[in-house]
Amino acid sequence: INIELPDQQATFEAAQKFKIGLYFATWWALNVVFNIYNKKVLNAFPYPWLTSTLSLAAGSLMMLISWATRIAEAPKTDMDFWKSLFPVAVAHTIGHVAATVSMSKVAVSFTHIIKSGEPAFSVLVSRFLLGEAFPLPVYLSLIPIIGGCALSAVTELNFNMTGFMGAMISNLAFVFRNIFSKKGMKGKSVSGMNYYACLSMLSLLILTPFAIAVEGPKMWMAGWDKALSQIGPHFVWWVVAQSVFYHLYNQVSYMSLDQISPLTFSVGNTMKRISVIVSSIIIFHTPVQPINALGAAIAILGTFLYSQSKQ
Ligand code: 3PG
Repeated sequence: INIELPDQQATFEAAQKFKIGLYFATWWALNVVFNIYNKKVLNAFPYPWLTSTLSLAAGSLMMLISWATRIAEAPKTDMDFWKSLFPVAVAHTIGHVAATVSMSKVAVSFTHIIKSGEPAFSVLVSRFLLGEAFPLPVYLSLIPIIGGCALSAVTELNFNMTGFMGAMISNLAFVFRNIFSKKGMKGKSVSGMNYYACLSMLSLLILTPFAIAVEGPKMWMAGWDKALSQIGPHFVWWVVAQSVFYHLYNQVSYMSLDQISPLTFSVGNTMKRISVIVSSIIIFHTPVQPINALGAAIAILGTFLYSQSKQ
């Protein structure tokens, strides 16, 4: 037995690594597909409040069907659970709609370059609002993150203030979502998959009245007819794809969050952004100047230094 134990341990560790690797690869692939269809839809149908709502609606519907057909077991929740989920859902809704508004105004790659600055927001919020102190290298890593994002923003060929602010608001909202999420998930028996399902449903309830107030059915109908006549009937499938893939990538990311530390998660998230930035530049033929790409590279390098210094 003594001889076999290390072997079993090694096999277990290898299997665990393989599983997490598989989660990460699936998460990034689903995210790339989401970002491409999301932008294709927004180019033809510039109503980000509706497309954000549809992504949440698709996820909610898929999960309700999975629970009803017992493909997935429904979670046992109480009022306390929904109460603690509420601030998470508010932050998730703001972060989601702000990122989508951003992507409706600027290139996908630009939104994700700014979103790679999320760790800087996390440190600043924790420091100034929660009074948490960090070792010096963590603060130093913010210099390339902020500097790189700033360089990329000022050299962006198609800079747009709404696009920039949307990505910044999304960063701030997602920092709060992660802080509240961690508190909300602690001690609860709801799995990552079901936690994200409940989050989608509550966010959908919060977002729907705002989407109607900001855009509304009149604009949507006119825009929809225009998009259908420009693109053809398969436009409907683009909308379905962006909605379904949005849910799937988030679900896989919450499932992997169950298995790994938040730090490994944030490294995975940054790597995800690299695949999105590169693939969207290729697919949409986004013009990039060398200095703009340099800014993005510095910002991303900064997030790696950040994760190293936090370790
Ligand atoms: C959204 O629409 O919610 C954003 O695209 C999400 O961004 P992220 O999951 O890549 O942070």
